[in-house]
Amino acid sequence: MSKALSYLVEARPQAMGHYLAFLKEAGSVLDPRTRALISVITKVHAQTERGFRQYVRRALDAGCLPGEILDALLMAFPALGLTRIVWAVDIILEMDLPGFSPEALRAAQAWQDLCALEDLPEGRPVFVDNVKCAAFVRREPDGTVTAFEARCPHQGTALTDDALEDERIVCPRHQWAFDAATGECVDHGDRPLNRLECRVVDGRVLVRS
Ligand code: FES
Repeated sequence: MSKALSYLVEARPQAMGHYLAFLKEAGSVLDPRTRALISVITKVHAQTERGFRQYVRRALDAGCLPGEILDALLMAFPALGLTRIVWAVDIILEMDLPGFSPEALRAAQAWQDLCALEDLPEGRPVFVDNVKCAAFVRREPDGTVTAFEARCPHQGTALTDDALEDERIVCPRHQWAFDAATGECVDHGDRPLNRLECRVVDGRVLVRS
């Protein structure tokens, strides 16, 4: 919270209490990633640099991908205009965050070959790491395949085989636990694993973010 807001909270606790409660309640039915993206846009619209830097990091911590933050900026073009978007991108470049380079963005959009379909057991999640991409993958009896990025949505910890506990995936860092079939967080946390788009071509499982 900025110095000015802290001052107002102390000087006008009644009015500011209502305001802060309103902010907390507004958007309570939105998922954390959507809320984070909207907050990023509001900071760009107000052109508050400190808040923008803070909310970009929050959005990444909430599991937003760099490409999603860029898309949110571009989609808000009618409200922001090019000048504010360029202002925001300049700051993102200064922050030197991973994943924002054009190469990284292109790679994130490309389909990655993950593994052979026949290597996946039926109805049981497995960890697959093929250097370019690490994921928890599950092949259902009807042939459909689901894959979740092997990265904790809490603070980005890379997850491995050790995180698999029967039907759950448990992050070793703060014990957020996820249902291996749905990716939903079922213990300690409040955000799901990032589901990867998945398709099977010629017996190979392909995924992308
Ligand atoms: S980083 Fe995974 S639970 Fe905190």
